[in-house]
Amino acid sequence: MNKLLFFLVTCLSSFPVFAQRKTISQRVDSVLRLMTLDEKIGQLNQYSGDWEHTGPITKDGDKQNQIRNGQLGSMLNVMGVEHTREIQKMAMQSRLKIPLLFGQDVIHGFRTTFPIPLGQAASWDLKAIESAERIAATEAAASGIHWSFAPMVDIARDARWGRVMEGSGEDTYLGSLIAAARVKGFQGKGIGNTDAVIACVKHFAAYGAAIGGRDYNSVDMSLNTLWQYYLPPFKAALDAGAGSIMNSFNSLNGIPATANKYLVRNILKDQWKFKGIVVSDWGSVGGIARHGYAADNKEAALAAILAGCDMDMESRCYKDNLAQLVKEGKVNISLVDDAVKRILTKKFELGLFDDPYKFSNTEREAAQKFVPAHIEAARDLAKKSIVLLQNNGKVLPLSKSVGSLALIGPFIKAVRDNLGFWSIEWPDDSSTIITQYDGIKNKVSPATQLLYAKGCNINDRDTSGFAAAVESAKAADVVIMSVGEARDMSGEAKSRSNLHLPGVQQELIKAIVGTGKPVVLLINAGRPLVFSPEMDKANSLLYTWWLGSQAGNAIGDVLFGDYNPAGKLPISFPRTEGQEPIYYNHLNTGHAAASDTIAFYVTGYIDLRNSPKYPFGYGLSYSTFSYSELLLETKEMRKNEQIHISVTVTNTGNFDGEETVQLYIRDMAASIARPVKELKGLQKIFLKKGDSKRVSFVLSEADLKFYNDQLKYVSEPGEFKVFVGTNSDDVKEGSFRLL
Ligand code: NOJ
Repeated sequence: MNKLLFFLVTCLSSFPVFAQRKTISQRVDSVLRLMTLDEKIGQLNQYSGDWEHTGPITKDGDKQNQIRNGQLGSMLNVMGVEHTREIQKMAMQSRLKIPLLFGQDVIHGFRTTFPIPLGQAASWDLKAIESAERIAATEAAASGIHWSFAPMVDIARDARWGRVMEGSGEDTYLGSLIAAARVKGFQGKGIGNTDAVIACVKHFAAYGAAIGGRDYNSVDMSLNTLWQYYLPPFKAALDAGAGSIMNSFNSLNGIPATANKYLVRNILKDQWKFKGIVVSDWGSVGGIARHGYAADNKEAALAAILAGCDMDMESRCYKDNLAQLVKEGKVNISLVDDAVKRILTKKFELGLFDDPYKFSNTEREAAQKFVPAHIEAARDLAKKSIVLLQNNGKVLPLSKSVGSLALIGPFIKAVRDNLGFWSIEWPDDSSTIITQYDGIKNKVSPATQLLYAKGCNINDRDTSGFAAAVESAKAADVVIMSVGEARDMSGEAKSRSNLHLPGVQQELIKAIVGTGKPVVLLINAGRPLVFSPEMDKANSLLYTWWLGSQAGNAIGDVLFGDYNPAGKLPISFPRTEGQEPIYYNHLNTGHAAASDTIAFYVTGYIDLRNSPKYPFGYGLSYSTFSYSELLLETKEMRKNEQIHISVTVTNTGNFDGEETVQLYIRDMAASIARPVKELKGLQKIFLKKGDSKRVSFVLSEADLKFYNDQLKYVSEPGEFKVFVGTNSDDVKEGSFRLL
């Protein structure tokens, strides 16, 4: 037997195929040894394609020549199998035939558009979010894409910042769970499978804390806040296996993130031992000079490579300067080699060296268009993302046999505005977007009269449609109004100082509410908006974000009770813009705690309450849920022990439904002040009407830890409060001591 084994091993080792069975690292080294400095720098260079709906891929002859000369490592914005294949063919004409990586912003779906990420986060449904990314990855990978520039995991506490729509809101705990779910969704069973793409966690780091909510603005932040609130979602995404990370545009405490050695070299690469690719954001290497941290692009390239940025997206600073910097001895070739290795490793993991066209398969691409199961998943996540904010007089759910409905507002028949910012434009996708009008029409009985009146546009001052809208409202049994922000009013470079509804929509609401008819208001937006008094007067408020291609069907499901809304806000809603940034996990001050009365010498405003309009975690159901007092198994806990907390939740209403039970803690006195509440657990449960369920949570020492003033992650003995409830404000309370 042993002889046989010896014989087999000897045969196989002399067989040429066996020689190929080197590890990826050996294969990377063998390619690296063949590369000239120019070819190495080429791998660190990424350009955007000049993509148009129907091609061509890139008209720019210079880019094409650079690809053929091995001077490019990656492209973004090259869409579709035909185009990626054509570009890859150019790379195959280069001396070493190193395949290109194709990246794309797959932010909330690829062919199938899901709700915007902030909307998805309102579902608090990690499985559904992971499935959405699985679908997005499958569709993107079938279209020649290897790499998705998502998830965006920036904590965002300021609704003025346009990019709140792209993340999971204000909370570190929820944001970390969602970050991991998204990475798992994108990378599926692993990079290299033809239904997986490399995830790219972004933007490293603290981008969401842009001063004044102004996009790209500087960030000034204590290291404690950085570690405590802003870094954990990145760590969670990397622990889930994310293969790449993107620098952010902002400077952090005066140092541009792309040049920030502390962030990238020290934390990411040394402490966290990240082995994947660090890609700059668009032009952010060149941005280092514009920040005033480098005198010119050459100094910017030096700062970026020293800090640990491996790939230069679109600024050409590496291409134009790195070779010289190496020759001058300012950049050690080992830094360049390390960056190249990281990029080649991903190309090997994807299997591109074995088959550069592995992801450019026409049949697979065709098979991934308009897949019924994907459309169903988009509808499912869209309905789960809707948040019921108000339902006075229980106007909702509506009867499907209602006599007449007035359908008013610029979103009722809108098409692409349902998709929101960062959705991918396809020439053939308009027909697959379900409008809100159609979604409602599909639900009601043929006898129901639908009286449509647009009333106004999203963002101009034209009131000429008001009269007709008021007439239809008067003639109908119930009014459904759909208002909001246009799809390009939240997103990158879409910060707003005014968070009210744009145009004359508020005035239209006033006119319609003035008819005295029952009004259901649908609010479509990429961020928390400020509510005018007219909006509050609507009987029912549904926050629908931008729900994606199945918006109409999902809204129909909720309006007519086929689905009982269960979304919870992942971000606090301000009463006015002046409250921003506003977030639930703030610290107390030395003055009286924030309360809802306006008084002097308390921490607050003289003209406004401290509390938000709607707190983090808030969201109603057609049913009601009652919470029992908390049951804590013990009142004391040692560091190596756990504490069990339970509560009985009862569905006291008339509808079956889901409830997201939320657990928060507060460390009452510590060596550094701790927030008044911090989310530490969540459970989404389904209860039939009248049913009760005991919901249990377990806390261990790890849940009680925080970064102290020396940035050590510690727990400290003392009293902890624990809160369980339906949102961050409405909770039952208990306490225990950590010994
Ligand atoms: C700039 C954005 O900040 C980033 O998130 C995106 O991935 C790149 N552009 C590429 O489109």
